[in-house]
Amino acid sequence: MKILVVGSGAREHAIVHTLAAETAAGREEHQLHAAPGNPGIAAEATLHAVDALDGAAVAALAVEVGADLVVIGPEAPLVAGVGDAVREAGVPVFGPSAEAARLEGSKAFAKEVMASAGVPTAMAHVCTDVDQVAAAIDAFGPPYVVKDDGLAAGKGVVVTSDRQAALDHAQACFASPRPGGEDPVVVVEEYLDGPEVSLFCVCDGSSVVPLAPAQDFKRVFDADEGPNTGGMGAYSPLPWAPAGLVEEVVTRIAQPTVDEMARRGTPFVGVLYVGLALTSRGTRVVEFNARFGDPETQSVLARLVTPLSSVLLAAARGELAALEPLRWRDESAVTVVVASHGYPGAVRNGDVITGTEAAGALAGVHVLHAGTALSDDGALLSSGGRVLSVTALGEGLAEARRAAYAGVDLISLPGSHHRTDIAARAAAGEVTVPA
Ligand code: AMP
Ligand code: GLY
Repeated sequence: MKILVVGSGAREHAIVHTLAAETAAGREEHQLHAAPGNPGIAAEATLHAVDALDGAAVAALAVEVGADLVVIGPEAPLVAGVGDAVREAGVPVFGPSAEAARLEGSKAFAKEVMASAGVPTAMAHVCTDVDQVAAAIDAFGPPYVVKDDGLAAGKGVVVTSDRQAALDHAQACFASPRPGGEDPVVVVEEYLDGPEVSLFCVCDGSSVVPLAPAQDFKRVFDADEGPNTGGMGAYSPLPWAPAGLVEEVVTRIAQPTVDEMARRGTPFVGVLYVGLALTSRGTRVVEFNARFGDPETQSVLARLVTPLSSVLLAAARGELAALEPLRWRDESAVTVVVASHGYPGAVRNGDVITGTEAAGALAGVHVLHAGTALSDDGALLSSGGRVLSVTALGEGLAEARRAAYAGVDLISLPGSHHRTDIAARAAAGEVTVPA
């Protein structure tokens, strides 16, 4: 198959790497393209210098390379309608329409769909000024959860017991202009306790196929300290997850949401990322995203045995109901993100990265690129906040953790930082679900 992957992060590198492995194993014969990709992806796909947000340009590229399938990785092109442009050009797309991607693009819209579909989620108030936010946070009490309605690369949410910090965040959201010029909206939610789970549900507009659950580490520092990020690490599977969790999420959350979107005439095709909290009052949706999660995808796809191309194509063609049950490796996967100096604040670019090849040569370890670039003389440089995702497979989480950190230790990037506790509590059997 000819497949064009849109995006340039470690998630897209993981998708390309997983597809390339099908060819390497002689299972499929793919020609892989990426737009715009990154230096890591360049080893496994042909890169095209096309702006991922330019729907007409991506559609033209898809036609030019004769793509059988276009896979759109990040949320911004989906929300901007790049999937629609490619579909209009007659090429099958894995990724929702702009209308369906509003499940991620607007938290208020997602809440409204969840209410219509009877999906359990945090109670919320949609606010249009700071006075409303103050009333809402006082109604819920601390810890306060204050969210920018729109896309914010995982950084639009503040969870804090400091009332002033909650109001300051709301004020900052109201002060930042919206891409479309519409008025800013802030969503205030009740606080959800309990461990979080990311479950990627592959959807074809009517059927749902869940992937293996993963856990993400959103806070920047060890022990979940510091501000939220796009994600500092992940692991899969979750040895502590209650039996039946995946079936429950499909039945009570993903399928009703997909049915509601179809009923509205905006069918959801792609990954419905269900972010969950397993609270003492039951399973609740924390967020929906309209795409694979980053960095969870790096861990989840490392364990997938079924050819990814068959899953993505079946979803794009509306044929998921006929897909064989997915097969998974028994091994565990752990992903550790290496971030730039300053991330998640203002980052420093242009630092020289060494050791990625040595790390990737370790057994079971794979180094996926995100914020990397090549200098004129071919040196690998940092170029963005999350620079690399080091992913390792191992017999159990403790072994996968050991391998991933052995890889991280071989990589040098001045001023970089990473969490040292990814999957540590799960490996030690310390994660518990509230009764
Ligand atoms: P979101 O972008 O909505 O996923 O929020 C980012 C992160 O903030 C989540 O992964 C949670 O860790 C945290 N968070 C969001 N909403 C809540 C909530 N209602 N209660 C507790 N934590 C939350
Ligand atoms: N890892 C969180 C996200 O992809 O949104």
